[in-house]
Amino acid sequence: MPDRFDLPAGFRWGVATAAYQIEGAVAEDGRGPSVWDTFVARPGAVRDGHTGAVACDHYHRYPEDIALMKGLGLDGYRFSISWPRVLPTGAGAVNPAGLAFYDRLVDALLDAGITPLPTLFHWDLPQALEDRGGWLDRDTAYRFADYTAVVADRLGDRVPAWITLNEPFVHTVFGYALGTHAPGRALMFEALPAAHHQLLAHGLAAAVLHERGLDVMLSNNLTPVEPATPAPADLAAAAAYDALHNRLFTDPVLLGRYPDLSALGVPDDIYGAVRPGDLDLVHTPGLDGLGVNFYNPTRIAAPTDPGLLPFDLVDIPDVPHTAFGWPVVPDALRQLLVHLHELYGKSLPPLTITENGCSVEESTDPDHPRIDYLSAHLDALARAAAEGVDIRGYYTWSLLDNFEWAEGYHQRFGLVHVDFDTQRRTPRASYAWYRDLITAYRGRNER
Ligand code: FCB
Repeated sequence: MPDRFDLPAGFRWGVATAAYQIEGAVAEDGRGPSVWDTFVARPGAVRDGHTGAVACDHYHRYPEDIALMKGLGLDGYRFSISWPRVLPTGAGAVNPAGLAFYDRLVDALLDAGITPLPTLFHWDLPQALEDRGGWLDRDTAYRFADYTAVVADRLGDRVPAWITLNEPFVHTVFGYALGTHAPGRALMFEALPAAHHQLLAHGLAAAVLHERGLDVMLSNNLTPVEPATPAPADLAAAAAYDALHNRLFTDPVLLGRYPDLSALGVPDDIYGAVRPGDLDLVHTPGLDGLGVNFYNPTRIAAPTDPGLLPFDLVDIPDVPHTAFGWPVVPDALRQLLVHLHELYGKSLPPLTITENGCSVEESTDPDHPRIDYLSAHLDALARAAAEGVDIRGYYTWSLLDNFEWAEGYHQRFGLVHVDFDTQRRTPRASYAWYRDLITAYRGRNER
């Protein structure tokens, strides 16, 4: 059986983070407020009232964090650029100090031999744009393309590949359908215009990046969907959920069309959001790579109350669960990748795992659940590669413990422990394990 040491030659090793989760410095050097700054101030929105105001203080401590990455021997670092740090009101005037921060970060990464892989949008929309409708407003897509041009013009000479959006599925569903993430809107299926406008933003930004000779990727949270039983009602519910979670985002980008959303009761034009020509804008620029964020598979049953939703999410018993309560099923990653390969065929660009990892209780020392999780998922990745899937790299989530959205600082995903009172960083056992894995992989593959 192939294992992680058999991953293809030239495979790229990395870690991933996101701006609001690590930077802090939310009111420094001219940064404007984002929807997350607003959301965390809402009573009850985030566990224990935690906020990202300081987070890992990475804005000031990035040299120390890059030294930690260098110690791992990474090829690449996936981080996100805070739109409101660069354009405090989302559009118009550029904040030179904000751009200068990312300029320093990129140079420091390159000095450490690490290729920067920026994400342009990881959920921290400028509040000024939210005040005009946020992703429910089509204009936000055009503002995103303008912002992309500003950043690409500054960093494109040193940054070869870019990720436009992070997880439009999670942002749409948690942020706009359920309201458990910023901006906290609970529109149920009427949230889906926010998905269309993010896809439009992706397409417009992809064209901007390609015009500058830069590579484009899109990262979504993807999950293999399994019916609870082979009964037709469970199969239909699973197909409806798959359309919403996975295909709503990959079909337009890779195939230029939306999947059938009728089982969700969503009109073909997504409540009037889809205009003639939009799908060409989304699809035609093409993708140089698809970013796959994978945490767990999803089991779906027919709804107990069909008036509410056309599916029920059910737990997967008899498997380990992470501290977050997510089921651990490593082979589901292989299944997902092989399924993508079969479903999209030649339309599927090379894949990169842009997030994968698990939260572990702070008291777990050494952090064996994390090492077990990562090694089993990398083995599953190697099996998918052996089955013919083109996989180019793996960015584990995350370098540091950080602000885990509505969970605040309660979920710890880091290879490096962070003491949020002192900002002291302490590499965990999984840090040494990942470093040794990268070294051993290179020893076997790059002789
Ligand atoms: C993903 C997010 C990332 C992080 C991990 C645990 O959905 O993209 O920011 O929160 O989950």
